[in-house]
Amino acid sequence: MDTSSLFDIKDKTAIITGGAAGIGKASCQILAAFGAQVVVSDYDLEAAEETAAEIRKSGGKATAFRCDVTKDEDLVALVDNTISHFGGIHILVNNAGGGGGGKESPDQIEVAQFKKVFELNVFSIWRLCQLVAPHMRAAGYGSIVNISSMASINSSPAISAYASSKAAVNHLTRNIAFDYGPEIRVNAIGPGAVRTHALSTVLTPEIEKTMLKHTPLARLGEPQDIAGAVLYFAAPISSWTSGQVLFVNGGGVQTLN
Ligand SMILES: NC(=O)c1ccc[n+]([C@@H]2O[C@H](COP(=O)([O-])OP(=O)(O)OC[C@H]3O[C@@H](n4cnc5c(N)ncnc54)[C@H](O)[C@@H]3O)[C@@H](O)[C@H]2O)c1
Repeated sequence: MDTSSLFDIKDKTAIITGGAAGIGKASCQILAAFGAQVVVSDYDLEAAEETAAEIRKSGGKATAFRCDVTKDEDLVALVDNTISHFGGIHILVNNAGGGGGGKESPDQIEVAQFKKVFELNVFSIWRLCQLVAPHMRAAGYGSIVNISSMASINSSPAISAYASSKAAVNHLTRNIAFDYGPEIRVNAIGPGAVRTHALSTVLTPEIEKTMLKHTPLARLGEPQDIAGAVLYFAAPISSWTSGQVLFVNGGGVQTLN
């Protein structure tokens, strides 16, 4: 078996949404470390530029573009700018997302907020896939990685918008794998609780203790734990894997309740 090309993404261009911080940033770092040209896209351009500069400082190739994934014109511009700078797109990590945090009781959440969660977590992914697909086909290599959540399969109080939107991401992934194959692979990762800014807004020592009781690997996740799975799906090593959802969760379940 020739193993030399299994993690070879040296001539590949990768877009990561929400790439300035957390799981997105770790994904940018690992893809750049394995040689990809990385587009750090985020609605916080200053933070995206900092991440890109850090990657360049450690020898990687990275550029920052501003993109709010809930704005169609930003998604179109992201793809256009990437093509005019790099001439192709091979890898897309649909990472920007949010909601949940135990704040979605039907007594509190308005219909407009519920819709917003779907716009952020589902519609943006569908649209960006639609925009990048022709370029991936033209390049002869395509891997799309959607960041879902353990919430997509757990049931908990006050998280119905986020949880159902992430369940939609799982099923979107399985279905568009048919639409975009055989040239493009589409997979998803469902992280458990990962130490990022998003988690810090809802984590308390009591909640963490309960989470760890249900986690065989006895620690919460770090962004690089998820980035490892991103690399697997992005690289040729997973070339016969599509339409899958991989849960990366320390072997357990970490809910807020
Ligand atoms: N951290 C966890 O425990 C956890 C668990 C399961 C799933 N996830 C998922 O992982 C993904 C990343 O979460 P994280 O914890 O790293 O978050 P984070 O808050 O640490 O980072 C999110 C990044 O996305 C950017 N962003 C937010 N909204 C955006 C938008 N509309 N357009 C462009 N950029 C935007 C932010 O500026 C930030 O840089 C999300 O899809 C989240 O649902 C996280």
